[in-house]
Amino acid sequence: MEQDLVAIESDCSDALSRVEELDALNDLRVQYLGRQGRLTAIMRGLGKLAKEDRKAFGQAANKVRDRLNQAFAQAEDRLKQAALEAELAERIDLTLPGSDAVVRGRVHPLRRVESEILGIFNRLGYRIASGPQVEDDWHNFEALNMPPDHPARDMQDTFYTVDGRLLRTHTSPVQIRTMLANKPPLRIVVPGAVYRCDADVSHSPMFHQVEGLVVDQGITMADLKGTLAYFAREMFGADTKIRLRSSFFPFTEPSAEVDVSCIFCGGKGCRVCGDCGWIEILGCGMVDPAVFEAVGLGPDQTQGFAFGMGIERIAMLRHRIPDIRLLFDSRVEFLEQFAQRDREV
Ligand code: PHE
Repeated sequence: MEQDLVAIESDCSDALSRVEELDALNDLRVQYLGRQGRLTAIMRGLGKLAKEDRKAFGQAANKVRDRLNQAFAQAEDRLKQAALEAELAERIDLTLPGSDAVVRGRVHPLRRVESEILGIFNRLGYRIASGPQVEDDWHNFEALNMPPDHPARDMQDTFYTVDGRLLRTHTSPVQIRTMLANKPPLRIVVPGAVYRCDADVSHSPMFHQVEGLVVDQGITMADLKGTLAYFAREMFGADTKIRLRSSFFPFTEPSAEVDVSCIFCGGKGCRVCGDCGWIEILGCGMVDPAVFEAVGLGPDQTQGFAFGMGIERIAMLRHRIPDIRLLFDSRVEFLEQFAQRDREV
């Protein structure tokens, strides 16, 4: 019987060291310590022993039972700990390094081009100004030398609001607001949304412009040309040339449209420039005396130049975007193409 006791203890310890599931552990407990268990059976047999043996064997059996109980408790701890660790391993491990697959937001190409333009003029000492998108007729047209019957109003298909105001058709009304609120010398750039009832691959009913205005004494067309030449080189590359073609705007006199040498063929002629080697990028001119008069500045002492460019147009040229609507669709496939360029900046 002593041998049985030793065998029970060593069998049970063996089994406990190998057990891997709590269920299996409970089965073992029943098997050894349960009412029909091996140890219990042996203890029941005590009565059959001679009196003198009974005490010693009983004590030995009790010790085995105590040790096995302890071993069961330890095995249970071990299995519970393992189960807890397995469960934790399935949850998010905050100590793991982040994955590259995280989608990072990036600057929209339109905003990128806008901030490049503003950055160039900022380096020349221009400040940023802004004005309302819902304008009145006086700021948008009349003060800019476009009286109500002026034919130039037809060029800009205007959205009117029910209360007789309008969505500004260009950023030029901010020229007026700035000159009314500040004394010269002035040097401002005005980024912002403008609205015209027009839509095709190169026109959107809402688009963005950057207006420029310089007002000071002794400003000449040479200042305008030098400024725009610098801008073109900064924006499109050091080899870029500009040319001025005479044009008309009611609020500038003389007026010009400005072309840059084609940024794709360098001036040789290609599809983008229509084989002429030049691409139009903005309108400009010397501030018309009638505009100075509207804001109460004496044209005799004050000169100035102004220019206005479409940001979409420049972004489309820069990135060879064939359809203006791509800039407003928010299609991720389109925007993702600019990820590489973002990193280069
Ligand atoms: N406001 C003109 C336009 O929208 C652009 C312009 C601005 C031209 C300033 C001359 C001077 O077409």
